[in-house]
Amino acid sequence: MTRDEEIGLIAELLGLDAENSKFLDENVTRSPIERYSCPDRFADEMKGLFRSKPVAAAQSFELAENNAFLSRLVSGLPVLLTRDADGLAHAFLNVCRHRGAKLVRDEAGCKKRFSCPYHAWTWSNQGELIAVSQESQGFPDLDRSQHSLKELPVYEAYGFVWVIADSSCSDTGEIKKSLAPLSEDLNWLGLADHRIAVEETFEIAANWKTLIEGGIEAYHFRVAHRKTIGPYFPDNLSTYQMLGDNMRSVLPRITLFELRDQPRKTWNIREHANIIYSIFPGTQLLVQQDHVVWVHLEPLAVDRTRVRLATLVPNSAPQTEEMQKHWMRNQAITTTTLEEDFELGEEIQQGFASGANEYLTFGRFEGALHRFNQVLENAMKVPEDA
Ligand code: FES
Ligand SMILES: [Fe+2]
Repeated sequence: MTRDEEIGLIAELLGLDAENSKFLDENVTRSPIERYSCPDRFADEMKGLFRSKPVAAAQSFELAENNAFLSRLVSGLPVLLTRDADGLAHAFLNVCRHRGAKLVRDEAGCKKRFSCPYHAWTWSNQGELIAVSQESQGFPDLDRSQHSLKELPVYEAYGFVWVIADSSCSDTGEIKKSLAPLSEDLNWLGLADHRIAVEETFEIAANWKTLIEGGIEAYHFRVAHRKTIGPYFPDNLSTYQMLGDNMRSVLPRITLFELRDQPRKTWNIREHANIIYSIFPGTQLLVQQDHVVWVHLEPLAVDRTRVRLATLVPNSAPQTEEMQKHWMRNQAITTTTLEEDFELGEEIQQGFASGANEYLTFGRFEGALHRFNQVLENAMKVPEDA
């Protein structure tokens, strides 16, 4: 975010408040509930969105050392992330090329080579097949080069290892291109100099889109979050901008209004607003004053989503027990608030089957939800009906 944008956003929000107005889109819109409840639709989204767009598979510091590795689910696929001896990150399908066993069972560690737990075929952390037990007798004509691990496009930038979970795609340029509109803002956040201080994972019985939608409007704050963060926010005031397919939402706290009497050169948006980057499709960065919460959505089924919350903190912050308690307190506040959203998401999912609604309705100040879904429909190249 440039300094001019920062001032412009604050001025816009102060202006909306002064006029007692909202950031309004043109129309009230609708989103059919099949989009959140139909298993075929879910399969299309996994293929058309999650496996065709870059996903932040890891934070760089999770894979900090040379020869470090991580194994995790990325867009529904088992993925092995490695950093080779030269410090270069790789991503592979974590699937043995002999008879398909899961090659690496450990979630994290440090290894130069990976030996399959089934028959011990072994690969380097650059994906080459380097050993086959009893090869000369059993596989006399084996072309090892044809049995490298299946590699995925990977690009390390802005503090994350980005992966496209599609082994038929070999173009790292696609990742760069997708992230280009976010580049200015991601540089502004400086997450390459951050590490994970606290993390938690939840499994929520709700469609992934409901969880994204719950994070990009302030209409619900004073109601759903009345016992937690609601009182710190003005009623239903927010703004958003598109950065390519991604969205930057700005949800001011009431302290923002104090800036009216202060010179513009002192204005700092992180002190007075929650900024949420929704990196299309399923990553959100919740920017707080002194840290950023990385929310990774891993859709498991049409009605089930794994959510990983990780508090990213600057490496420059003292690594003391006291600071760790501070980060844990902050993560607990985020978690408590998000649990209110998760509960609503699960209840919404249960209601889909009831037949009460054929569609969800988005008001003019919920335009961000429509915009997100529009981008989604365009990305999947199906006619837009919302
Ligand atoms: S399945 Fe991996 S070595 Fe046989
Ligand atoms: Fe919420």
